[in-house]
Amino acid sequence: MKFILFNFIRVLLVGLLSGVCIADEVRIQQELEDRSEIIPPLQQAMGKDAFDKAMASGKYAYTGNAKCRLCHRDFFLGRKKDVHDYAYEKLLAVGSEYLENGRCLNCHATGYGVKSGFQDMTKTPRLANVQCEGCHGPGNEHIRRQIVNMPTAGAGKSKTKSTVILGGFLAGVDNPDILRKMCTSCHTQRWNRAFHDLGKSYDWYKAAKPGESPKDGRTY
Ligand code: HEC
Ligand code: HEC
Ligand code: HEC
Ligand code: HEC
Repeated sequence: MKFILFNFIRVLLVGLLSGVCIADEVRIQQELEDRSEIIPPLQQAMGKDAFDKAMASGKYAYTGNAKCRLCHRDFFLGRKKDVHDYAYEKLLAVGSEYLENGRCLNCHATGYGVKSGFQDMTKTPRLANVQCEGCHGPGNEHIRRQIVNMPTAGAGKSKTKSTVILGGFLAGVDNPDILRKMCTSCHTQRWNRAFHDLGKSYDWYKAAKPGESPKDGRTY
């Protein structure tokens, strides 16, 4: 009891002193006390067997959103206004120590805990925040398929869009069920502020430039 009271007061003080929202401080404290295994969102969404198989194939690696920009400029620019693109900075805002905490990075960076995913800001700065691949999964196989099928200078013109091999994503339009599970792997019960209507929020990401975050269902 004493311990709980002490923690409560501490959380309250830290919150007040740093100007951090108290509700966030409570959640962060709960997260720090959580001893459950850290499982990458992609693995949670796919299930362990399918995830292990995909990784063992050696086909899938994270590339960073600068590459996506080459062909999806509209999505890239649209996502620049999205909260996911600030997820890593949000950790820094509450304390630089969290930038080294795997539990936080698992949901506030891209592909943490997965081979070729985010490690730290010195080694993999290009994968900070929750980028395209944070939701869609590693993108290099997708890019390879697009490039193989891109019109070449001489013979290319005859290649139409219908010859483009789509997909290549572990969580993409081809497999929306997994993409949906990606959302709930990060937006757990503890971190569910915006998730009273997952369907609406999910559909919102179909658009390249969604504008503002959806307000529906927010309770704050
Ligand atoms: C299971 C995934 C997950 C983990 C683990 C996690 N977060 Fe988050 N965090 C989220 C999600 C999702 C949101 C946005 C939705 C919400 O606020 O409920 C969020 C929001 C936040 C916010 C509020 C941002 C804002 O816009 O006000 C802060 C601060 C934060 N997290 C810090 C942390 C810290 C520090 C840790 C590690 C101790 C951590 N998070 C661990 C998923 C996670
Ligand atoms: C918060 C998660 C999330 C992030 C981050 C994200 N996407 Fe998506 N994306 C989605 C969802 C959800 C869909 C809709 C899938 C469906 O139709 O079932 C989607 C759809 C798409 C589509 C297909 C649109 C169509 O139907 O023609 C493209 C292309 C795309 N995203 C590219 C990107 C790129 C590029 C980035 C990064 C700049 C990005 N996405 C970041 C969740 C995300
Ligand atoms: C060489 C060009 C190219 C690059 C680079 C590229 N894409 Fe695509 N992508 C395409 C084309 C072409 C399509 C199919 C037509 C369309 O939807 O625009 C497509 C479709 C998609 C789709 C919808 C289909 C699906 O399987 O879900 C998503 C999502 C997507 N891209 C995300 C990304 C992300 C994320 C990146 C960066 C890792 C990326 N793309 C990099 C060319 C590219
Ligand atoms: C890798 C973890 C991760 C995945 C996957 C993810 N999110 Fe998030 N999401 C976050 C974090 C972290 C934040 C908070 C970022 C911030 O405040 O800067 C957030 C914020 C949001 C917000 C704004 C919440 C608010 O309170 O302002 C919405 C809406 C949202 N996510 C929807 C989705 C949807 C829909 C999907 C699936 C297509 C998805 N997210 C997938 C981690 C994730």
